[in-house]
Formats: sequence, structure tokens, C-alpha cells
Amino acid sequence: MKKILITGGAGFIGSHVVRRFVNKYPEYQIYNLDALTYAGNLENIKDIQKHSNYNFVKGDIVDEVFINELFSIHNFDGVLHLAAESHVDRSIEDPLAFVKTNVIGTMNLLNAAKNQWKNNFEGKRFYHISTDEVYGSLGAEGLFTETTPYAPNSPYSASKASSDHFVRAYGETYGLPYVLTNCSNNYGSYHFPEKLIPLFINNIINNKPLPVYGDGNYTRDWLFVEDHAIAIDLVFHEGKNQETYNIGGFNEWKNINLVTLLCEIMDKKLGRDTGTSQKLITYVKDRPGHDLRYAIDASKINKELGWKPSVTFEEGLEKTISWYLNNEEWLKNVTSGSYKDYYKKQYS
Ligand code: NAD
Ligand code: TYD
Repeated sequence: MKKILITGGAGFIGSHVVRRFVNKYPEYQIYNLDALTYAGNLENIKDIQKHSNYNFVKGDIVDEVFINELFSIHNFDGVLHLAAESHVDRSIEDPLAFVKTNVIGTMNLLNAAKNQWKNNFEGKRFYHISTDEVYGSLGAEGLFTETTPYAPNSPYSASKASSDHFVRAYGETYGLPYVLTNCSNNYGSYHFPEKLIPLFINNIINNKPLPVYGDGNYTRDWLFVEDHAIAIDLVFHEGKNQETYNIGGFNEWKNINLVTLLCEIMDKKLGRDTGTSQKLITYVKDRPGHDLRYAIDASKINKELGWKPSVTFEEGLEKTISWYLNNEEWLKNVTSGSYKDYYKKQYS
């Protein structure tokens, strides 16, 4: 029996990873460690909370004493580290919060794993889930590869770059067995409606303005979150130690084109006249330091581990929109803040 720690499992991507691991690996005990910040929502994983191989631990990765204790109690065999402050706009408002969780929090986990494993690294693995934003911004041409130099532009990406460097340094200095992945923008169910796609779906439902930053000609490479979870599973089990893999959707969209497509699908689904949602598009002041373009070359993970996205963007977006329309209760609980009561009801 293996004990696996997954951090940030009440968040967007983490909830998909926890669900996959709990369902697919009954032989593992999964420990979901999450501080339940504004982005953590236990409703995201309520379908698996009663499974016998699932354990929830509420706690903050910034708390060094608590993290050391947790490792000494459980002596985890593997760590999948997803807990983070993840929103670029928030990082512009409060960069220090990002340093605390993303840098110090990652350091605490690295130290705890290193000390607990005491140089006996057989069968152990530390997996840091990171972002393509560490590479900075592309111009019109080219793709990020695993050897693209780091050039983070936002406080969020600077904090993730810093934690990536520490993970790599612990591998070099102490021999800690690690894997690292840098993934492009995810979309799908349980996505907190502060990020582009869920925010705009929610605003369309409620006839609210769609705030497009700047001229809308910024490009992102979108990946369906369940495909990211599949890739994470594969890298955790079959990736090579001390390696980085880029993960991406081979799926670039300018924001304004994506938003236009979203408006068209939403009009159809909601039975509204064509063009209704598009009228909600409002160009607003640009994000400071806004990266022009992200695009991933995911050929390494494809060649070495055989991964590629399983759904097209059209399929993934259709599934995502249908999920939000069928789960308005979830959306309402999140936007009203009442999702915070779920922990109290279930665990106290
Ligand atoms: P999210 O914001 O939805 O979830 C983050 C989770 O971490 C939440 O459940 C939150 O409660 C928890 N958390 C935050 N601070 C914590 C702390 N101090 N201690 C314990 N738990 C804490 O984030 P996400 O979008 O699911 O991203 C997960 C990971 O994947 C992050 O590391 C992010 O950098 C990375 N990533 C995200 C994307 C994306 O498109 N969302 C793309 C590539 C990589
Ligand atoms: P976001 O979902 O915040 O992800 P990231 O900043 O990590 O790429 O934003 C995706 C793109 O959409 C990015 O170019 C910023 C833009 N955007 C808007 O135009 N309006 C919005 O309200 C938001 C949240 C994002």
C-alpha cells in the first residue's frame, strides 16, 4: 500500500487529479492536503469523499511545523504538489501571498520530503505541477519547449518559476527524485469563476458584461483539465526522475476569438437569439504586464510517454459549458460564497 500526498486537491485541477487517483488506484491511500482558501471547495470532490482510500487534511503548506509533523506521521511515498495561489490578477494585487504559498510552501514540502526520506529515495517521488507562464511571453512565432529559458513576467509566474528552481535544485543538491511539468491554460468543470472561461460562462448566464482585457488579441493554448489529469497520472507513474515535461493542448486561441465562440455556443444552449451574448463583450483596461502569447510544444511527453489530448477543443468546450449549465447550484454556491459552509457541515 502506498501513501500519496496530493496538495491543493480541493481546487480546480487538484480535484480532478484526486478523483482520478482515488478511483483508479484503490491500492493507494490518498491524502488530500488543502488549506481551503477562497479557491478550495470540497464540493468539487464530494463524489469521492466517502471512499475508503481517501483522506482529507485541512492545513496550510506555509506552516512548516505542521508540514513536518504530517510527513513524520505518514511518511508518504509520493507527493503531487498542486496547492498554489493561481490567479495572475490577484498576484498583481498581493504578490507576497504568492511568495508565501508558492515559494515558502513548496520549500516546506521539499524539506519535509528530503528529511523524512533521509537519502533513502527508493520508490519515492516529488512531483511539482507547474505552469508554462514561467517561460514568459512568446511573440507571433515559436513554441515553449522544455529548454526555453525561464523569463516570468507576473508575480504569479515569478513565484512558480522560483518554486520550479528549488525543486530542480533539491534534485541536483540532495538527489531528491523529482518530476516537473509545465502546463498551458486549463479549462473544464469545477473551475473557479475568476478565470476567463468560467467567469464568462457565469456572466453570460447572468447577462453581465464580459470584460475583455486590452484589444483581446492575447493568445493562450487551452487544454481540457481531464486531459491534464491523465498526463499528471502518466508522468507520476512513468516519467523519468529529474525530468521536465511540457503539457499543452496544441490549441491556440486569441482571447477575442475564444470569447466569440463561447458566446455563439451559449446563445444556442440558452435558446437566445444569435448575437445576444456577443453584445455583452466590453473592452476594459489591459492587465499590467499582460503576456502576449503562450503556446506549448508537447512533443516530448507525446514521444516519451505517448500522451496527447483526448478531446478536441470543440468537444471539451461543449462538455464544459454543459457542465456549468447542469450545475448552476455549484456556480451559485461559489459566487455567493456559501460553498465555504460545506467543510463545516461535513467535517466539524
Ligand atoms: P486553484 O486556485 O483552483 O486551486 C488551488 C488549491 O490550492 C485550492 O484548493 C486552495 O485551497 C489550495 N491552496 C492554496 N494555498 C494553499 C496553502 N497555503 N496551503 C494548502 N493549500 C492551499 O488552482 P488550479 O488552477 O487548480 O492550479 C493547480 C496547480 O496547477 C497550481 O500549482 C497552478 O500553478 C498549476 N497550473 C494551473 C493551470 C491552470 O490553467 N489553472 C495551468 C498550469 C499549471
Ligand atoms: P486567465 O484565465 O486569468 O489565465 P492566465 O492569465 O493564467 O492566462 O486569463 C486568460 C486570458 O484571458 C488572459 O490573456 C487574460 C484574459 N482575461 C480577460 O481578457 N478578461 C478577464 O476577465 C480575465 C479573467 C482574463
